[in-house]
Amino acid sequence: MTPMTAKKLPPGLHLDTLAVRVGIEPSQYGENSETMYLTSSFVQPDAATAARRFAQEEDGYVYTRVGNPTVTSMELRLAALEGTEAAIATSSGMAAILLLGMGLLRAGDHVVCSQSVFGSTVRLFSGEFAKFGVETTYVSQTDVSAWAAAIRPNTKLLFAETPTNPLTDVCDIQALADLAHSVGAKLAVDNCFCSPALQQPTRFGADYITHSGTKYLDGQGRVVAGALCCTQKEVDDIFLPITRTAGMVLSPFNAWVVLKGMETLSIRMKAQCTTALELATWLQDQPQVARVFYPGLPNHPQHALAMRQQSGLGGPVVSFEVQHTDAISGRANAFHVIDSTQVCSITTNLGDTKTTICHPASTSHARITEAQRSAAGVGQGLIRVAVGLENIEDLKADIARGLNSLKASA
Ligand SMILES: Cc1ncc(COP(=O)(O)O)c(C=O)c1O
Repeated sequence: MTPMTAKKLPPGLHLDTLAVRVGIEPSQYGENSETMYLTSSFVQPDAATAARRFAQEEDGYVYTRVGNPTVTSMELRLAALEGTEAAIATSSGMAAILLLGMGLLRAGDHVVCSQSVFGSTVRLFSGEFAKFGVETTYVSQTDVSAWAAAIRPNTKLLFAETPTNPLTDVCDIQALADLAHSVGAKLAVDNCFCSPALQQPTRFGADYITHSGTKYLDGQGRVVAGALCCTQKEVDDIFLPITRTAGMVLSPFNAWVVLKGMETLSIRMKAQCTTALELATWLQDQPQVARVFYPGLPNHPQHALAMRQQSGLGGPVVSFEVQHTDAISGRANAFHVIDSTQVCSITTNLGDTKTTICHPASTSHARITEAQRSAAGVGQGLIRVAVGLENIEDLKADIARGLNSLKASA
């Protein structure tokens, strides 16, 4: 049988094309849908070749903790979409942030981090990294002067997530990158809310991108996955030595799911953003809604910045606060609206084709302290909706059910 070789892709392809075309070459059978190499190890032609490959003197897969063709395909595709030289896949989004910290930080180093990042990220920096002598200062997501004021001579890393979960605050990536570089530090951006379909942080000067592939890259709520995007040299010299030793690698099965998920990333993101904007606009007009948080709305505090940074789209996540008088009524009202839904899934995950609805204060942000929660602005009346691919009218009716009965009981 004549082995198949892939066509060489021409330069200058657009993101949508890269998303379906980038990967390793097909096998000798010429499959059009990428093969899943579900194997833990790779047979070597002879002992001498095995020795060269283990010594990294010659390319060739040896063991899936060190590398796997399906995982390589997923890494190549994500790097192509993010516009970075390389990417390294991890077992989850949190593992990508762990890998970043393990690679860059030493005892005595300091990190400046947005106070509005994902709750587990705060716990990772303040709980786990702190055990190893790394200190983190949390600052306002949107106030660049607060980031600047927090910088110390030992600051090595600035870490941001934009837009934030659940309040959708948008930070100025370029301004933070300039600040980091002016003091010899690096900027990492968690890009899982926008995905490269909307936002490519390295275009604005970020040095590293972390991803929860669990979110929009898979896009269908099937697997837990993560990745760190950086230069090839950093993969080779810093991050791959850690993953092959510490073992937080992505399974080939999950890599394949994310690889195929990325093929529809762009089309899904555009559809979900269109629905999210319509939902946010409608929510603003509901008397039982006190406030809507959505970067696509002109009254969002960073609307103009979001439009510049996020390809003119607001993203798929809308949060809103139900009317309430105190924390107790806020929680009760939010629970009522959530429990009245018959279409939306009550789950904290996001990035699914199915719309998800959750109460951040008691779920995703429950493990942080009350002080950290209130600094992040996550009140008891807040509800987060991560818009999927359902019809907008069905989503409005689903949320109206709880809002309207709140009104009736008021
Ligand atoms: C912004 C953000 N970053 C990182 C993560 C962690 O991702 P994973 O659950 O894949 O570890 C999440 C998970 O919800 C998230 O929302």
